[in-house]
Amino acid sequence: MVKNILVTGAAGRIGACLTSGLPEYGHTLRLLDRTPINNTDSSHHEVICGDISDPAVLEQAMKGITAVVHLAGIPSTSATFEELLTANIEGTYRVFEAARRAGVERVVYASSNHSVGFTPRGELVPADTPVAPDSHYGVSKAYGEALGRYYSDRYGMRVAALRIGTFDRRPPNARALATWISPGDMVRLVHACLTAPDLTYAPVWGVSANTRAWWDPAQGAALGYEPRDDAEVYAAEFPELDHADPEYAWVGGRVIEE
Ligand SMILES: NC(=O)c1ccc[n+]([C@@H]2O[C@H](COP(=O)([O-])OP(=O)(O)OC[C@H]3O[C@@H](n4cnc5c(N)ncnc54)[C@H](O)[C@@H]3O)[C@@H](O)[C@H]2O)c1
Repeated sequence: MVKNILVTGAAGRIGACLTSGLPEYGHTLRLLDRTPINNTDSSHHEVICGDISDPAVLEQAMKGITAVVHLAGIPSTSATFEELLTANIEGTYRVFEAARRAGVERVVYASSNHSVGFTPRGELVPADTPVAPDSHYGVSKAYGEALGRYYSDRYGMRVAALRIGTFDRRPPNARALATWISPGDMVRLVHACLTAPDLTYAPVWGVSANTRAWWDPAQGAALGYEPRDDAEVYAAEFPELDHADPEYAWVGGRVIEE
C-alpha cells in the first residue's frame, strides 16, 4: 500500500482505470489533469486541475506525495512535434524535476511500445530492447524513458517505464491479440511497479498474458507483475495477421503516414 500517489493525466482512459482500480490495493490518490476529471470514482480523491508544463501547478501537486504515476501526454503516433512538445517533452521533464525537488521516491512513467516501434517483431522481444522510435510520438516517449533513467542514475529515484501495448476493454484488432493490456492487468502492473522493493530503473512491457505475445514478460515478472487476462478469448473475432503486413513485422505495427 502506498499513501499519496499523484496520478497525472487522470481524466484520460488509463487514468480513469487506475482511479477506480488502485484504491482496491489500499493506495490513496491525488489526481491531476488539465481537463476536468469527472468519472464517477474521482469524487473520492483530491483533484487538481492544471497543466503539467506549469511548474507552480506541479510544486503544489507534489506536496506530501510519495510516488507519481505519470500518464499525462498526447498519446498519438500521428501527432506532430509541435503537438507533442508541451505535454510529452516539456511536461514530462517538469514532472520528473518537480518530483525530485519534492523528494518523491518513485515514478511510474507511461511510455509506449512506439519508443521501440521500429524493432523487428521477432520472438519475445526483451523489455529492455534499445529505443527505436517509429514516430515523433515514439521519440517523445524515448525521451521520457531517458529522463527516467537519468533521474534514477543521478538521483536514486526508482523509475519504471511502461512500454504499453494496446490498452482497451477488449482487443480492438488482430495485432492487439499480441499487444493488448486489459484494464485489470493495467492496475496490477502499476501496483507492482509502485511496490516492487528492488526497482531502480526498469523498462517493462505493458501487456496482458496473451497467448500470442511478442514481448518477453520476464522483466514484469521480476517486479511482481502477474497478468491474468489473455486476448486469445477474442481471437475468433479477427482474421489471422498476414506475416508480410507491417502490423505484424514491427513491434509498433503499421506506421501512420503523415
Ligand atoms: N492507451 C494506450 O493504449 C496507450 C499505449 C501506449 C502508451 N500510452 C500512454 O499512456 C498515457 C495515457 O494514455 P491514455 O490512453 O489514457 O490517453 P488519454 O488521451 O485518454 O489521457 C491523457 C490525459 O492527459 C491529459 N493531458 C494531456 N496533456 C496534458 C498537460 N499538458 N497537462 C495536464 N494533463 C494533460 C489529457 O487531458 C488526458 O486526460 C499517455 O501518456 C499515452 O502516451 C497509452
